[in-house]
Amino acid sequence: MPGTSSRPPLTVAVVGATGAVGRTMIQVLRERRFPIGELRLLASARSAGKHVTIDGEDHAIREATPDAFEGVDIALFSAGGGTSRELAPEAAKRGATVIDNSSAWRYEPDIPLVVSQVNPDDLEGHEGIIANPNCSTMQLVPVLMALRDSVGIERVVVDTYQSVSGTGHKAVAELEAQIAAHAAGQPKQATVYPHPIAFNALPEIDVFLEDGSTKEEWKVIAESRKILHLPDLRVACTAVRVPVFYAHSEAVHVETREPITPAHARELFGRVDGVVVQDDPAAHRYPLATNAGGTDDIYVGRVRQDASIPDGRGLSFWVVSDNLRKGAATNAVQLAEVLVQRGWVQAAGRRAASSHQRVAEGVA
Ligand SMILES: NC(=O)c1ccc[n+]([C@@H]2O[C@H](COP(=O)([O-])OP(=O)(O)OC[C@H]3O[C@@H](n4cnc5c(N)ncnc54)[C@H](OP(=O)(O)O)[C@@H]3O)[C@@H](O)[C@H]2O)c1
Repeated sequence: MPGTSSRPPLTVAVVGATGAVGRTMIQVLRERRFPIGELRLLASARSAGKHVTIDGEDHAIREATPDAFEGVDIALFSAGGGTSRELAPEAAKRGATVIDNSSAWRYEPDIPLVVSQVNPDDLEGHEGIIANPNCSTMQLVPVLMALRDSVGIERVVVDTYQSVSGTGHKAVAELEAQIAAHAAGQPKQATVYPHPIAFNALPEIDVFLEDGSTKEEWKVIAESRKILHLPDLRVACTAVRVPVFYAHSEAVHVETREPITPAHARELFGRVDGVVVQDDPAAHRYPLATNAGGTDDIYVGRVRQDASIPDGRGLSFWVVSDNLRKGAATNAVQLAEVLVQRGWVQAAGRRAASSHQRVAEGVA
């Protein structure tokens, strides 16, 4: 991590360390050389006492209990909403700053919901809990930000093609087993999803809401508005699970306020940190899940005018990113990096209290 070599190392907890996101978090923390003094790996009581080997080092898994957060500076949570609701306040009470991957806190007005390259300033006033957005929202908003800041956005329609790793490690195993069953001429067993996911497309992600949409679709709408600071943005979404292991794809249609050409849009997208334009249809070059998997970037291509919107104010494009990395773990670690670089690791109230104390002691 650049610019941190002289800073004291931190005690970092990963909650959900045995899961798909938690394992990726550990990997990303190490790859980015996050300044860790102690890495505390936590999961459910089922995993307590198990060991995991990371880069040849053995780490014991502990049960995530309130006391496990004593002395923790930053806690990266990816253990489901129930665990976050119960344990994130306990961790914050003990002085840790939580970066939470579940949807438990995202819609609370006072809790920052942040994509590292879109709204990092929103982290400043955190009071110990920070929310990491949903993976489908994460890859969408950096690209929308470029349009918001140049030509303005009137309306967004996004249809997602989401990989099974977005559901967790059991769904990855289920798709593998169904493919093997198909090859062996056996029936495909579905337990994680209501139908076989192999060779299928399921228009059901998370629970159904009263209006017939799903919670996943609602999340994309509510989170995009909050992160982009556009509370009235018109957004429609259809979220679909597809038999892809890693990386989500999205077909995005945007009605802009001012006209914009595809060439200008490509130029704007390419200037966003962490966004890569791959757009050469003649060479069959466009973003693919199989290429995006295992990387941290957001890939955009197939940028074209949407002729159904008048006056050159319509754009269509295709966005792909690894849901476990930028969609979850990498963004969480990037937020932790911003906290360290800007001196915001502690909650705003604690920072203010310690600076008052320093003034009173004549230190500052
Ligand atoms: N997958 C994605 O792309 C993605 C993206 C964004 C956000 N998220 C969110 O991240 C979270 C984890 O997702 P995942 O895909 O990593 O799921 P997963 O592979 O099923 O892993 C779940 C993790 O949570 C732990 N856990 C479950 N109950 C617990 C409890 N009571 N106390 C402590 N730990 C507990 C599990 O530990 P045990 O092994 O001990 O059961 C495991 O480590 C979810 O909230 C999900 O919505 C996922």
